[in-house]
Amino acid sequence: MTGAELVALRQALLDWYDENRRELPWRATPGDRPDPYRVWLSEVMLQQTRVETVRPYFERWIQRFPTLTALGAASLDEVLKEWEGLGYYSRARNLHRAVREVADRYGGRVPQDPERLRALPGVGRYTAGAILSIAFGREEPVVDGNVRRVFARVFDDPAPKDSGLWFVAERIIPGERPGDLNQALMDFGATVCTSRSPTCGRCPIDLHCRARAAGTVGERPAPRRPRETPIEKHSVAVVRHEETLLLVRRPGRGRLGGLWEFPGVSRSPGESIVAGAHRAATEWAGIKVAVVRQLGSVDHAFSHVRVTYDAVLASPKTDPSRGLAADGVRWVREGELGEFALPRAQRRIAELL
Ligand code: ADE
Repeated sequence: MTGAELVALRQALLDWYDENRRELPWRATPGDRPDPYRVWLSEVMLQQTRVETVRPYFERWIQRFPTLTALGAASLDEVLKEWEGLGYYSRARNLHRAVREVADRYGGRVPQDPERLRALPGVGRYTAGAILSIAFGREEPVVDGNVRRVFARVFDDPAPKDSGLWFVAERIIPGERPGDLNQALMDFGATVCTSRSPTCGRCPIDLHCRARAAGTVGERPAPRRPRETPIEKHSVAVVRHEETLLLVRRPGRGRLGGLWEFPGVSRSPGESIVAGAHRAATEWAGIKVAVVRQLGSVDHAFSHVRVTYDAVLASPKTDPSRGLAADGVRWVREGELGEFALPRAQRRIAELL
């Protein structure tokens, strides 16, 4: 595509955006500089998550943690609790760590220097590009799923490579209003150039679209071959003792790290549901249990694995205070479960009771 054609494409997108931009709670009104903290937060929430899902989370979050400093001062437990239900919890852990780093090292001001920004936990090329362009008006590109689809069609490329996509994004970004241009690409991809039913009849850039000319819009980009997702079978011990339930906190940074759960283990081949539940109570809390009854099953799809949780109700056979020395083990009243950050599947297990 020639430079002149890119300039025309860029302008058509900006004109479209001026008429059709979505009203989103993290967007400033035209002409105002957006708050970098709100932009950052929204971009992190929007990774892997749809705009309509994010909207209420974002509004509640801003009530609770209105500034970067307020977020940095909160505990990880409070942060995970607010994130509960959005999934991909490493996003929240990284954001919390990054915000504390910004508070400590940069006096609470989000750095405008790309290298410093990229050095923060969880801030990759996409997030840095979005913050720099939208919040600071810098000519930095972004490529996300929407941008990828739009470029795949404009260039009629069934399988665009990341390097090529970023190259095009870098070429189209220089000029006025880089933040608006990036958001125009995203909004356009989300509302007109959609994956299943693009409305090419209302397309402001159809003259630039090679897939439109070739009649291949529906096949661009070609669907990626779905991965086989492995399936795990877990046993979960819901241990009840005098109106309280045993909760344990997952350690570290892995899947669901820092969240609270009923003790559970991934069963080995041949291990029964009940045997797994015994092992879960012992390994997580050091207690022996008697199984009362089976509660049922809950399925949950994570990004790379599907898990079936088979839950059993149990009661402690040994002193229930064993294991409580560790700070990741608690007996919690049923009415207080809401105060803990529990993954969605664990809430559904609690509902089986
Ligand atoms: N998806 C991710 N970030 C976005 C933004 N800033 N505007 C619209 N859609 C988005």
